[in-house]
Amino acid sequence: MNIREAGHADALAIGRIAGKSGYAVPELEHDEESIRKMLHDSMLVFLAEENGEAVGYIALDPKAPEKIEVHSIEVKKEHQGKGIGAALLDVAMAKALELGKKELVLFCHPRSKEAMAFYTTLGFERKGFVPGHYSSGEPAILFSKGIN
Ligand SMILES: CC(C)(COP(=O)(O)OP(=O)(O)OC[C@H]1O[C@@H](n2cnc3c(N)ncnc32)[C@H](O)[C@@H]1OP(=O)(O)O)[C@@H](O)C(=O)NCCC(=O)NCCS
Repeated sequence: MNIREAGHADALAIGRIAGKSGYAVPELEHDEESIRKMLHDSMLVFLAEENGEAVGYIALDPKAPEKIEVHSIEVKKEHQGKGIGAALLDVAMAKALELGKKELVLFCHPRSKEAMAFYTTLGFERKGFVPGHYSSGEPAILFSKGIN
């Protein structure tokens, strides 16, 4: 498995991962168009490939001064449980360190129980409940991990 920074030419391949991760909140699922928007909005997107196939991605928003936000992370269902998600978060930590950030943060939908278990296993702490975080008016749970 190899992880590299993604560019505009990867939007279609990443969009295909986005529809195939079994995300617990389908209405928030990404597609090629939203991936293109992330790349256009200067997010840092990293792509995991296995034998040339795009199997996972992470999109990071580095705009806040002291933190990086994990905007989105997904691994194709048939490739889950093999350490790809953890490796993508390692890349995010390394990038945050390189940029001098102090914290990696992310917002998680309360329905996304499996993702919350994943983040907790990897050392993220639950920091709060954010009412009305999503455009649908639904709340999010804020997770954070210090950079070291
Ligand atoms: C969440 C997701 C990215 C995890 O990716 P993954 O490649 O399957 O995760 P990994 O194999 O790297 O797992 C890393 C650790 O998290 C744990 N973990 C992963 N999924 C878990 C789950 N559903 N429940 C409990 N623990 C879990 C693993 O056991 C592993 O721990 P270990 O190192 O002690 O064995 C993937 O399941 C996914 O794409 N889910 C759908 C999309 C989604 O929910 N994204 C997050 C939106 S907030």
